[in-house]
Amino acid sequence: MLFNEAALQGESSLGKTNKTDIFVISGNDKHLHDVSQALMSFYVVHPFNDAGKLSEALELFHPTAIVIDEELGASGGLKFLQNFRKIPRWNLIPVVFTAKKGHMEQIQVSSSSSLVRTLVKPYRFSALLKAISDQVNAHVEAQWHLMEPTQKAALENTLSSFNSVADLIADGKPLPYQDIQSSCEPLVTAVQSGNFKDLLQGVRGHDNYSYVHSLRVATFLSLFGNHLGVKGDDMSILATGGVLHDVGKMMIPHQVLNKPGRLDDDELVVMRSHVTETIDFLDNTPGLPRGVTIIAGQHHEKIDGTGYPYGLKGKELNELARMAAIIDVFSALTDRRCYKDPMSPVKAMEIMEDMGSGHLDQHFLLAFKELLLDATSESNIH
Ligand SMILES: [Fe+2]
Ligand SMILES: [Fe+2]
Repeated sequence: MLFNEAALQGESSLGKTNKTDIFVISGNDKHLHDVSQALMSFYVVHPFNDAGKLSEALELFHPTAIVIDEELGASGGLKFLQNFRKIPRWNLIPVVFTAKKGHMEQIQVSSSSSLVRTLVKPYRFSALLKAISDQVNAHVEAQWHLMEPTQKAALENTLSSFNSVADLIADGKPLPYQDIQSSCEPLVTAVQSGNFKDLLQGVRGHDNYSYVHSLRVATFLSLFGNHLGVKGDDMSILATGGVLHDVGKMMIPHQVLNKPGRLDDDELVVMRSHVTETIDFLDNTPGLPRGVTIIAGQHHEKIDGTGYPYGLKGKELNELARMAAIIDVFSALTDRRCYKDPMSPVKAMEIMEDMGSGHLDQHFLLAFKELLLDATSESNIH
């Protein structure tokens, strides 16, 4: 194998599937059908109307979360949940429990685990999605406590910064750049000391795709800079630029942002507007280094001038833009989405090489390939 793919993708040795699998169990066929249909665009859904079948499936692999309905056979979903929680190897699987109003008090008393979220029927579909997401993320983030302090801080700080940006955008407030920059310091330290692997592993399975992509871009961009001899404040520009490069996507409608298939022409225009949305937001940021604006504003530009939003060409694209374009494409190809398996780094590099000299800077592309080989060689993976 050319690269150590597992290391780059943050693979775990635990028996998880590549996609985000959700088990749904209910004895009410209509409820089971409706929930399964609703979740299908976002997750790989496995519906069950029988507790025995679900238990058999759990012996094969663990889903990311389970939605358990109170209506289930003669003994009901609550009894199933209680028995389920007694089995240690299943105890850490996040659960969303759905029940009618009036039945919840009993459930909340009996399901004290923080990994059980309750939802009162009838509920809005968005509430179910949020409950699943929150459960999945709480489970992933809980594992960060087991990490080394630097890696743990890198993930916790960047997640907190990323979430704060969503609030700032919603409230129309400017970005406190110094805070974002400080939040990225542990990430830079982790990369400079060669311990980036835990960062990629740590976000695996996290359900906030925009955060995961931004963290991966920040990590790979910092790795790339480190490999090229970048130091000091310039490293922090790469890390913060990575975290902030796509924040305009927070303004893009969910159905466009997370559409599994190809975008039509109108949707493509909306999706591409994330760059100008990012720039509009960052323009209001006092003290923002120009390098961060370049990473955010030019990561979709191409050498031959066919990129967007400015259509910059050749020498108009500076080094940061060229590096960011390579890292953004590489990260997007190797990211894990609910509807696709992540591409291997080898395959991603092949595709990027096939894109030709009109798209990506060939000199930097070669350097990035060297970095992948270097970073995944035995001596450097620790
Ligand atoms: Fe982008
Ligand atoms: Fe991106």
